[in-house]
Amino acid sequence: MTQNTSANLNVGGKAVSLPVQKGTLGPDVIDIRKLYAETDAFTYDPGFTSTASCESKITFIDGDAGVLLHRGYPIGQLAEKSSFLETCYLLLHGELPSAAEFEVFERNITRHTMLHEQFDRFFSGFRRDAHPMAIMTGAVGALSAFYHDSLDIHDLKQREISAHRLIAKMPTIAARAFKYSVGQPFVHPRNDLSYSANFLRMCFAVPAEDYVVDPVLVKAMDRIFILHADHEQNASTSTVRLAGSSGANPFACIAAGIACLWGPSHGGANEEALNMLKEIGKPENIKDYVQGVKDKKYRLMGFGHRVYKNYDPRATVMKQSADEVLAAVGDPNDPLLQVAKELEQIALNDEYFVERKLFPNVDFYSGITLSAMGFPTTMFTVLFALARTVGWIAQWKEMIEDPSQKIGRPRQLYTGATQRDYVPLSARG
Ligand code: CMC
Repeated sequence: MTQNTSANLNVGGKAVSLPVQKGTLGPDVIDIRKLYAETDAFTYDPGFTSTASCESKITFIDGDAGVLLHRGYPIGQLAEKSSFLETCYLLLHGELPSAAEFEVFERNITRHTMLHEQFDRFFSGFRRDAHPMAIMTGAVGALSAFYHDSLDIHDLKQREISAHRLIAKMPTIAARAFKYSVGQPFVHPRNDLSYSANFLRMCFAVPAEDYVVDPVLVKAMDRIFILHADHEQNASTSTVRLAGSSGANPFACIAAGIACLWGPSHGGANEEALNMLKEIGKPENIKDYVQGVKDKKYRLMGFGHRVYKNYDPRATVMKQSADEVLAAVGDPNDPLLQVAKELEQIALNDEYFVERKLFPNVDFYSGITLSAMGFPTTMFTVLFALARTVGWIAQWKEMIEDPSQKIGRPRQLYTGATQRDYVPLSARG
């Protein structure tokens, strides 16, 4: 971070000169830390549309250009050439691993995939029809009750063990949430399989027959995980940072992130996007549906993004994976895919969407792909949470290791009643 200019502000007759910081990429930021002390004024920015909440070296997004970089590497290159576990290492450590470093990392993650035996009983406390995201929120929070030896956030080694445990155990927990909801026995992890192959097996194997992992699905799963691994200071990541800023343990912080991700404006959008395509049903219905969007009756799910005002680079890769998966296990002539492709074309050329810079986001094609892979819609956000865990934990770690870290405590613009005296019940009109 460098500083070479300042912003001068006059608030109610009090002048203040604020430093302007430059990052390596992206807009300059006005450092307002001394604003309140020197002017008695706060800034007001609901939804944080103009606020940088932290300094970070992990992920960079240029929403106008449609660029997403992890530690400098474009998402398209990672999705094509890397693996999810290598991307995890990159996000956590800042550099791509050497062969020896990767071997150690992969072994560490693989060795932490099992859950405490007692943990399996935890699932039976949930109703069978519980949403798997409800199970995920509860189960991940409960990890802190099982792994006491990695809760000291001030101990570097314990932070590392917690990071490994979370990345390793999320697939096992996610697969159990799925198995529980369909009434099938839990499948234990197999350490000879890759991260994604093991996850697919834990989801779809049954004791009655062998499960052969399809390499096309493994590649698609791994890619979906890479595409969702991190995304800068979005709502759930900011939630994780805010929860962590109080010193809460990493398992509690990630559970907070999962709860935030569940919302339909965030991670829940892929579930909503597929439901929307099903509701439209066939290409002939698109025109009327789009009219409803323009009349503001509902939104086009899987479209638009707070940061991307261009094609979401993750959507480009996702679209390719959708084609590959449907060619392998689904129906490339699936009416939903036809609806999605036509809807995309109409929206990309329609003035309403062009004017507002509403492009397809990663969720637009992920629903169709995951559905063809055999996942019910309720699992879509779970898969997002599984993949995003590494981003959350990398951002949490970065925050804990930042010497300027303080508890997060936003202020407010108060518009409620001014001070008044309490009136006893008998005297109220
Ligand atoms: N369909 C129709 N109109 C939309 C949409 C949409 N998906 N998104 C935004 N708009 C319109 C909105 O009505 C407003 O129009 P007007 O100026 O006439 O009032 C304008 O575009 C700006 O909307 P906004 O709500 O100020 O934009 P935002 O940056 O706050 O919202 C968003 C970002 C992602 C919440 C929103 O685009 C949305 O609701 N999209 C659908 C849900 C979705 O797909 N979410 C997944 C995001 S990607 C995965 C992730 O990172 O979680």
